[in-house]
Amino acid sequence: MSDDVISPTDFWEDRYASSERVWSGRVNDALVQVVSGLAPGRALDLGCGEGGDVIWLAQRGWKATGVDISETATRRATAAARQAGVPDDRVHFVAADLATWVPTDAYDLVTASFLQSPVHLPREEILRRAAAHVTPGGRLLVIAHAKMPPWADARAHHHDDLPTPAEEVAALRLDTWTVEAAEVRPRQATGPDGSSVVLEDTVVCLRRPDVPEP
Ligand SMILES: C[S@@+](CC[C@H](N)C(=O)[O-])C[C@H]1O[C@@H](n2cnc3c(N)ncnc32)[C@H](O)[C@@H]1O
Repeated sequence: MSDDVISPTDFWEDRYASSERVWSGRVNDALVQVVSGLAPGRALDLGCGEGGDVIWLAQRGWKATGVDISETATRRATAAARQAGVPDDRVHFVAADLATWVPTDAYDLVTASFLQSPVHLPREEILRRAAAHVTPGGRLLVIAHAKMPPWADARAHHHDDLPTPAEEVAALRLDTWTVEAAEVRPRQATGPDGSSVVLEDTVVCLRRPDVPEP
């Protein structure tokens, strides 16, 4: 698939429109591992999809905003949050292209789970822009495929989409931040045919200094 023939909005809208539900609706394991011990505050999820991570955060007391390029995804996320009984003032979903969307608030936690795409995605720029909106002492958590799942279309992703933990940290260029995690973590998953597989996620968590940088 070429970036020239389909816009990111059309690509992801088609992806979500192609089935009633694309993801499991469950929170990502690495988010649970990293965030469970943190005091809740304000959170921003970049590329929130159908809202599994945002809903989990809201259920744990966070005030969480999810942004995704697909209106279908954010509509489903809003419905899933209501169905889960999450109060409306705890979650907010925005349909927007992160290539141009600029946060207006400050966040104690910015997360991006599998913000990876076979079509144009200025990922580094998006992560760095969001990092500028992390509060002093707050965190940026980036979870990515270290290897594509065996059932994914290998031709649809380039090596650049699969950063190592060191490459991820280097690309963020947040040199004054503390690296709390930068590693590949295995994860048990079930494939579309019901088989059990071990996947590998790159997990990077950086903490901004308590005192604002000059
Ligand atoms: C692999 S999915 C991950 C979804 C979700 N974070 C999860 O873990 O289930 C990538 C998500 O990024 C979104 N996305 C891709 N490009 C985007 C962009 N430019 N702006 C906003 N969202 C984007 C897609 O619509 C999709 O929901």
